[in-house]
Amino acid sequence: MQFGLTQEQEMFRQMAADVAKTAIAPKAAEVDQTGEFPWHVVDAYRQQDIYSLTVPEEYGGAGVDLLTFCIVVEEIAKVDATAAIILAVQELGLLPILLGGSEEQKRKYLPGFGSGELIAAFGLTEPEAGSDVSSLKMKAVRKGDKYVLNGTKVFITNGGIADVYSIFAVTDSEAKHRGISAFIVEKDTPGFSIGKIEDKMGIRGSQTAELIFENCEVPVENLIGQEGDGFKLAMMTLDRTRPGVAAQAVGIAQGAFDYAVQYVQDRKQFGKPLAAFQGLQFMLADMATQIESARQLLYKAASLIEAEGKDGKISPYINRYAAMAKLHAAETAMKVTTDAVQILGGYGYIKDHPVERMMRDAKITQIYEGTSQIQKIVIARSYLD
Ligand code: CAA
Repeated sequence: MQFGLTQEQEMFRQMAADVAKTAIAPKAAEVDQTGEFPWHVVDAYRQQDIYSLTVPEEYGGAGVDLLTFCIVVEEIAKVDATAAIILAVQELGLLPILLGGSEEQKRKYLPGFGSGELIAAFGLTEPEAGSDVSSLKMKAVRKGDKYVLNGTKVFITNGGIADVYSIFAVTDSEAKHRGISAFIVEKDTPGFSIGKIEDKMGIRGSQTAELIFENCEVPVENLIGQEGDGFKLAMMTLDRTRPGVAAQAVGIAQGAFDYAVQYVQDRKQFGKPLAAFQGLQFMLADMATQIESARQLLYKAASLIEAEGKDGKISPYINRYAAMAKLHAAETAMKVTTDAVQILGGYGYIKDHPVERMMRDAKITQIYEGTSQIQKIVIARSYLD
């Protein structure tokens, strides 16, 4: 049992570990190899009510705290990072509605997200606006009781899979970041289509797609909050979802470490198990210490964010700790998985062993939901006046 966790949190960890072992792990290598979206994972989440975790009880969900959610993501990522991001992106797509939506919007969409009947996605990034969110180009022009959306989003996780998208577009191009607004776009809206599906290095079963909007009309009721709220809503969402990516990273690292620990005890060289060599013991000690420090920072971040509540207050602690947790966990995942491959030597470099996949999967945690460099900007700025 992890220090400081409640019995309920341990219960959720066990539940997630069971789902990971029975429903996800057996097909993780195959999903990586084919790159096909794992609908069996979605089915497992639906059956086990896992999608309900982050939806508040008043909208039909289980309404667990952020730390519990992170523990579940971590447990799943130990066996498969693709399955973990499918869960984390549900949270990313629904949070703009939960944080900034009207009561009507919440009642319309949140129960479906909680049951898993509706899959969510988050459309922020554009070809010319990745780290620099203020430079979005996609336009939303009001015409009577509709907004007309024109533009392209790229690298959208769950693109083409999701039923409902939270989309960010410019309603006032003079106002820079204050001219960005958020909209709910349903998948069958005329003028909305899916473009290129990316062929990725890792998390290969997670579908990443281009979204194309050509005179796509959405009703004014689909504006989330007020015009101009979009940038802050995106930032507030990311502050609360970066811990989910950190949890994915901690899980990937732990999965690779566990595999390496087993391997060094099974494999013999120079007449003794690899585990007997002090050089490898030192590597294992460093890996374990890095993972545990990343985990504790993540748990602290999740607890702090939860304590602040979802009332829209801006706190330096929320963005600082979310960024620290993601930065440290992502760097740890990359380092630990690389070392796990090294420990396995030639066997680590081939697909017969999962550490090869884990190393490729770890890389994305340093990139999406803000690169490690962006996290450093957020952390540093939180200390400066
Ligand atoms: N919460 C609330 N408000 C915030 C905020 C936060 N965390 N951070 C900034 N703001 C406010 C500021 O107070 C400021 O308010 P005013 O209008 O009153 O001035 C305003 O927003 C602008 O802030 P900045 O001047 O700091 O904005 P910036 O242009 O310098 O950008 C940034 C800041 C941190 C670099 C931001 O652009 C950023 O986070 N970039 C990374 C984007 C990112 O993470 N993209 C990931 C895409 S999603 C994804 O990857 C999903 C997936 O596939 C799984």
